[in-house]
Amino acid sequence: MSKIVVTGGCGYIGSHTIIDLIENGYEVICIDNNSRSHAAALQAVTEITGKSVKHYKIDLCNYDDTYAVFEEHPDISGAIHFAAYKAVGESVENPLLYFDNNLQSLVNLLKCIDEFGVSHFVFSSSCTVYGNPDQIPVTEATPIKRAESPYGSTKQISEQIIQDYARNSAATHILLRYFNPAGAHPSALLGELPLGKPQNLVPAITQTAIGKIDKLLVHGTDYPTRDGSCIRDYIHVCDLAHAHTLALRYLEEEKNKEACEVFNLGTGTGNTVLEAISAFEQASGLPLRYEIGPRRPGDVIAIYANNDRARSVLGWQTRYTLNDIMSTAWTWEQKLRDKKTVFGA
Ligand code: UD1
Repeated sequence: MSKIVVTGGCGYIGSHTIIDLIENGYEVICIDNNSRSHAAALQAVTEITGKSVKHYKIDLCNYDDTYAVFEEHPDISGAIHFAAYKAVGESVENPLLYFDNNLQSLVNLLKCIDEFGVSHFVFSSSCTVYGNPDQIPVTEATPIKRAESPYGSTKQISEQIIQDYARNSAATHILLRYFNPAGAHPSALLGELPLGKPQNLVPAITQTAIGKIDKLLVHGTDYPTRDGSCIRDYIHVCDLAHAHTLALRYLEEEKNKEACEVFNLGTGTGNTVLEAISAFEQASGLPLRYEIGPRRPGDVIAIYANNDRARSVLGWQTRYTLNDIMSTAWTWEQKLRDKKTVFGA
């Protein structure tokens, strides 16, 4: 059984990925300082899988603490690195916070990987690296344009750091570029738990429907798209999670041709904000209160994935539709309201 360290394992995508890894026979340990996540996520993982996960509540920006985890587990064979700040708006207001946290933690982790001879590294990147693309759908070969936010810059720079490191490292690496992760685990025991007012569309929709938010604000309907609102590629978090297991397996089976390879993880279909609202209304059977507001600074007009590479090379397939995303997210929101989760709120 391979032992994998997952950083940011208490976060939204990290915790769903731990479930998928466990279900596929991996042993997992988690590093997460819980500055923006809930340790209870691992309780939900245990409820779902029946397995407990050892958790180190440490900050990856502290090299000595990070080193100590690897020292205790010299048999770690792979690392999946999720831990990072991810709020686009906050990164615009405080870029140094983002560079400091997201880059320092990555470099410390890579130093440990190097020191302890960890064989495989999977990095949580984002379609944000493409900036405002000239052509959609984007493939992995689509030129990288200027990032629209410091958050996006940290993902571009992180990719560069890993590419440069990979050239002279014994380990093999994969960069996974996520589109818009959404939805919840079908058990409804785990899902997205935004801190404060949600910035992302799907939790903003479900919180509006449950009454935590008065009205959803649609950020602009004057874009050059079919209904004027922005286009995104919403991918179910469990589909995304499974891609990490496939990526690790691909590296373990030495199928990679390069020391660092890149994969887009999206469904291949773009939906507008208004289409997403209508998918929610259909899935929940409820009308959603929303109003049209101005554009949100930093928003990309339209982006969705060409996912041919992940499908043909990793054998990845998506199982969930936009309707599933909305129905699982809605069930999760109701369970949270009814305090029927380990999160209690
Ligand atoms: C962005 C990044 C993504 C990153 C994510 C983290 C890009 C292209 N994507 O996603 O890489 O992981 O942030 O947070 O940079 N919307 C509304 N009303 C709302 C909320 C959102 O209309 O209350 C709209 C947005 O304007 C956008 C769409 O919904 O058009 C999706 O927004 P969001 O969920 O925030 O994700 P991105 O901005 O695409």
